Amino acid sequence: MRRLDFLRMSGLLGMSGLLSSFTSSKGLGQPDSFAAEMQQKIKNAGLNGSAFHLKADAIPKVRIALFGLGNRGQSLIDMLNWLVQEGHAEISAISDISPSKVQKAKEQIASFQTTVPTAFTGNDDAWEEAMNDDLADLALICTPWELHTKMALKAMENGLHAASEVPIAYTPEDSIALVKMAEETERHCIMLENCCYNREELWLLNMIEEGVFGTVTHAECAYLHDLRQLMIDPTYYENRWRLKHHLARNGNLYTTHGLGPVCMYFDILRGDTLTHLTSMSSKEAALSEALAATNDPQLQAMAKKVVCGDVNTTLIGTAKGRSIMLQFDVHSGRPYNRLDKVVGSKATHYGYPSRLYIDHGASWDGHRWLSDEMEAEYREKYEHPLWSRLQRLAEEHPQGHGGMDFVMMYRLIRCLNQGESLDMNVYDGALWSLVGALSEASVAASSQRMDIPDLTAGLWKRPEKHPVGRDI
Ligand SMILES: NC(=O)c1ccc[n+]([C@@H]2O[C@H](COP(=O)([O-])OP(=O)(O)OC[C@H]3O[C@@H](n4cnc5c(N)ncnc54)[C@H](O)[C@@H]3O)[C@@H](O)[C@H]2O)c1
Repeated sequence: MRRLDFLRMSGLLGMSGLLSSFTSSKGLGQPDSFAAEMQQKIKNAGLNGSAFHLKADAIPKVRIALFGLGNRGQSLIDMLNWLVQEGHAEISAISDISPSKVQKAKEQIASFQTTVPTAFTGNDDAWEEAMNDDLADLALICTPWELHTKMALKAMENGLHAASEVPIAYTPEDSIALVKMAEETERHCIMLENCCYNREELWLLNMIEEGVFGTVTHAECAYLHDLRQLMIDPTYYENRWRLKHHLARNGNLYTTHGLGPVCMYFDILRGDTLTHLTSMSSKEAALSEALAATNDPQLQAMAKKVVCGDVNTTLIGTAKGRSIMLQFDVHSGRPYNRLDKVVGSKATHYGYPSRLYIDHGASWDGHRWLSDEMEAEYREKYEHPLWSRLQRLAEEHPQGHGGMDFVMMYRLIRCLNQGESLDMNVYDGALWSLVGALSEASVAASSQRMDIPDLTAGLWKRPEKHPVGRDI
């Protein structure tokens, strides 16, 4: 029996699985039975942690099949420019339902690559033929959320490594299925959380690792980005796929830009883990008001159907007693913000704009943030070695979000070139995504506590420095 069929039969792939039974017509579910059911599914899957430090054969030139050639797909093509020209990678296949996007991507790729990628287009399932290890080593997935898990599973089943845009899953069953498939096939499966490579987040990580923060106790992070206009625009997200999620789901739908870096700061899965959460969504208003204010009757009708609250707040606890406040809001008008707050026994940082406080003990010192000049000294002294190494390259080439997208793509391809394990493994992506699914379950149960299950078979207990610091 093919692995994918087996997983389907064991119920691991059902989009309408645990989460929907929990929020069924009976009204509020029972968190205890939900947690027990999830534990049973993990037990049945027999997860064993074997993909945690996975290394695969070195691939001197990584052949990439790229799925989804919209906003993000086009941007990641730019990130590959230098890697292709240096001979580290080649875009060997591209796929999108839209033939015009395929044509546009071909022209974009031709500006820096001599070989022409094989194209797969024209219908919803054309992508499946590109998941072929004769054609590619790595599937780079930039499609709408509902296709991420399905495509990553297919890639691994067919012998390719999988790298997916965020979130890689949004049901508990999908997180479990991804881990199981990576363990069985010994293929890499990485969620491309680019904010983990941002200069400020890496600087904070380095300061934490160097002891500047003392004992880190608490963090606040978020994805606060007014996307109303883009979600309504018929030409931005293909078929308005993103808006549709807000008509069907309520919770934190996009956890990982905020949570990913905090999990690095807190050694999550490398000595500590996320244990439980509670989540609350505010009333919805801003998106439905924006829809109602259009002069499109179809959008006006949607205004009555928005279910995702404007501001979702999730509190997460860790095994070592740390706390995390995670927020999500893409409805309200306000400047972009990921908060970037970290509190330790010796220092505190707030982001947007960046402010650093160094504690001098209990004596009164005015409780002032460091001056810009003093913060600049800390920035220079504690620049993350990865950023120092790649800064010139990141500045000289198309950068993507200030350089972090280039650094992310560089690390992925160079690790594969050298047969090294990746900076983030399948357990990281599955866990960060699982928080989103559990936030939905908690919101549906009047903010009741949800336990966060272990997908690593206990490996999270082993203390380990984050691999992003390795010299590769
Ligand atoms: N990490 C980041 O900073 C970042 C930034 C932007 C977007 N994203 C993520 O990237 C993903 C894509 O977002 P986007 O803004 O590019 O959306 P988009 O709508 O512009 O692009 C999605 C593309 O997928 C294609 N597609 C849909 N169904 C397909 C199928 N069956 N086969 C092949 N192609 C198919 C669409 O035609 C479209 O071109 C999302 O997961 C989003 O969350 C991440």
